[in-house]
Amino acid sequence: MEERLPALKEELGAGFCVVNAENTADGAGLTPRLADRLLAAGADALTLGNHVWRRKEIGPYLDSSDRVVRPANLASSSPGRGLAVVPAADGTPVAVLNLQGLLFMSTPISPFEVLDALVEEARAQARIVLLDFHAEATSEKVALSRLVDGRVTAVFGTHTHVQTSDARVQPGGTAAITDAGMTGPHDSVIGVKAELAIRRMQTGMGVRFEPASGGVRIEGALVECDAEGRALTCEAVRVPVP
Ligand SMILES: [Fe+2]
Repeated sequence: MEERLPALKEELGAGFCVVNAENTADGAGLTPRLADRLLAAGADALTLGNHVWRRKEIGPYLDSSDRVVRPANLASSSPGRGLAVVPAADGTPVAVLNLQGLLFMSTPISPFEVLDALVEEARAQARIVLLDFHAEATSEKVALSRLVDGRVTAVFGTHTHVQTSDARVQPGGTAAITDAGMTGPHDSVIGVKAELAIRRMQTGMGVRFEPASGGVRIEGALVECDAEGRALTCEAVRVPVP
């Protein structure tokens, strides 16, 4: 990201960049130092997911950060928030939201329970609203994207590490992609050295995972919107990093 993101933002004409950073620290969690490095590399805001607490030191950092959010539907006593408002390159305020899915995940509060209030809180502060929905099941991500159609600018699915081919603008003007994919080594099993992931599956025994290194790509999605925050275009991004 440090090598490629600044030029990539320019090539794509991107005025704002959100990075899901939940597995930045050797494939699990995020540390304050790595969060700062991603922000310095050109990310305007960072989102997280189910691995948010893998590095304990991120807790106090989340409490004080105005650019790094964790899923809003975690235990209310946990550090951090699920909403940040950050200015884009031209000064336009952009609200960034993070929610975690319910299906096949351990999630304390249903995203559907908190969605309306969260979106309303965001819209009171910004016309452009970006939601990272960190979830496993494609059905849940498609359903939630449809539920907020016309109320947010874009819903980016994350968590599966596999980019889906359904980047679209829905009828109400909300862009959506079920999964934005993985920035990392694709010569792997979703980022992990293939032989280690396969051995764990074959034996059912604990095998320590290590990140792979080959076939690195930046993956994501590019959304264009108008001043009202209505999406005009949405396309998947896949960029090899030599
Ligand atoms: Fe995840």
